[in-house]
Amino acid sequence: MVKKTIVITGGAGFIGSHLCDRLVREGFRVICIDNLITGSKDNVRHLLNEKDFLFIRQDAAQNRKSAVSSAGQLPLRLTKHHTLSAQ
Ligand SMILES: NC(=O)c1ccc[n+]([C@@H]2O[C@H](COP(=O)([O-])OP(=O)(O)OC[C@H]3O[C@@H](n4cnc5c(N)ncnc54)[C@H](O)[C@@H]3O)[C@@H](O)[C@H]2O)c1
Repeated sequence: MVKKTIVITGGAGFIGSHLCDRLVREGFRVICIDNLITGSKDNVRHLLNEKDFLFIRQDAAQNRKSAVSSAGQLPLRLTKHHTLSAQ
């Protein structure tokens, strides 16, 4: 079965990092985009070697297309203001 990919902006923050944990644990592929303005890579460091987790340091308000191509040309769909989903 094809795993769903979820993009989490602010994924290295307090709430976002817990969301990353939970979604990786539940079997999703997770792309975490964070510019680290208040968050820290330490919050997701334990996930960096997971095959289904990708961290991208980037401003989510800028250059969304670049984030998409960095993530491997995944077909993305804008679903909410801060949330992109992919299949
Ligand atoms: N241990 C605790 O109980 C604890 C710890 C930390 C925070 N908090 C509380 O949690 C709340 C804050 O949590 P949060 O997760 O909403 O905030 P956060 O600051 O932890 O997370 C927001 C994340 O978004 C990122 N970000 C912001 N703008 C961005 C942009 N344009 N592009 C990409 N990334 C961007 C930040 O770098 C950060 O990682 C506050 O109420 C705080 O008091 C509680």
